[in-house]
Amino acid sequence: MTNVILSTTDISKRFPVTQSVLSRLRGQHRLAVNALNGVSLDIIKGETLGIVGESGCGKSTLARCLVRLHDCDSGKVLFEGTDIGTLNGPARRTFNRRVQMIFQDPYSSLNPRMTVRQILAEALSVHSMRPKAQIETRIGELLGLVRLPPDAADKYPHEFSGGQRQRIGIARALSVEPEVLVADELVSALDVSVQAQVVNLLLELQDRLNLTVVFVAHDLRLVRHISHRVAVMYLGKVVEYGPTSSIFAAPQHPYTDALLRAAPEVDPSRRTRTVAARGELPSPINLPKGCLFHTRCPLAMDRCRTEIPALRPRGDGHLAACHLDTLPAKATP
Ligand SMILES: Nc1ncnc2c1ncn2[C@@H]1O[C@H](COP(=O)(O)OP(=O)(O)OP(=O)(O)O)[C@@H](O)[C@H]1O
Ligand SMILES: [Mg+2]
Repeated sequence: MTNVILSTTDISKRFPVTQSVLSRLRGQHRLAVNALNGVSLDIIKGETLGIVGESGCGKSTLARCLVRLHDCDSGKVLFEGTDIGTLNGPARRTFNRRVQMIFQDPYSSLNPRMTVRQILAEALSVHSMRPKAQIETRIGELLGLVRLPPDAADKYPHEFSGGQRQRIGIARALSVEPEVLVADELVSALDVSVQAQVVNLLLELQDRLNLTVVFVAHDLRLVRHISHRVAVMYLGKVVEYGPTSSIFAAPQHPYTDALLRAAPEVDPSRRTRTVAARGELPSPINLPKGCLFHTRCPLAMDRCRTEIPALRPRGDGHLAACHLDTLPAKATP
């Protein structure tokens, strides 16, 4: 696909688990959390790609690998076809400017001792975005872009509400004129009414500035509202992805099906009390063999216990990693 801006090819990331001296003396081999287990994704220029999945499935790790806050253990992240792991010096700085991450908690990412003016001026000067004489005007423009009043420039982060702080975080990210925004749980900590304002602002900015957005979130309703395409993750793998409408209307992976059924607000006519999937989430330290979902899948067959299913096309740009060609009408109880 020619309009792919960012992509991952089979990326994996493991985090070593701290073990006691005793277990090491006993010769037990080093344990690791398998946070990402072969993720391949294409992110198309100008789209919003939603990433969903249960807590601990690797969404934040993937987001961090996309902006190279983590280096992957294997596989590659390609930005406009170049392996970002090979970037150094000015090329790496340019990548860092063009692909920006916005964090969930602006409290921890905004320096409490700096005014908004100082925060934005710093971001503008790090990447030499404007000559000194134009910085003040640009700060005004950025505040306007995120709909904060001009006098916000003289205030400190603690003087703002959660939603306003998130707008400051967005203004800071936009100050370096990025092409891709990676938003990890951008609005999860905000009240529902404020969430909608921030999300609508993001949608408007995306349209106006032709941004590509990777939107990581728990809330399926939000993801459905904002995303052109959705990727569903389970235990560090993308099990299904494709156009939002087709994922929500006709999920092709039993895990996605269970996830949607467990979120009654998505469609009140499907209201049910089922949890995301039966049984317990396996430990990412000890991954199941074969399909990672087989231990909880109501449709598991012998083959699923031994053979890892590849992501296969299901028509209309929709892919699912399941040995079944189609799901029965009612996959979960
Ligand atoms: N820096 C780290 N060191 C050790 N383990 C980590 C680290 N970061 C993530 N993990 C582990 O990797 C797995 C994936 O975590 P990650 O934060 O990517 O999940 P997530 O999908 O973002 O979860 P949540 O929805 O709760 O934010 C988890 O088991 C987590 O404990
Ligand atoms: Mg996370």
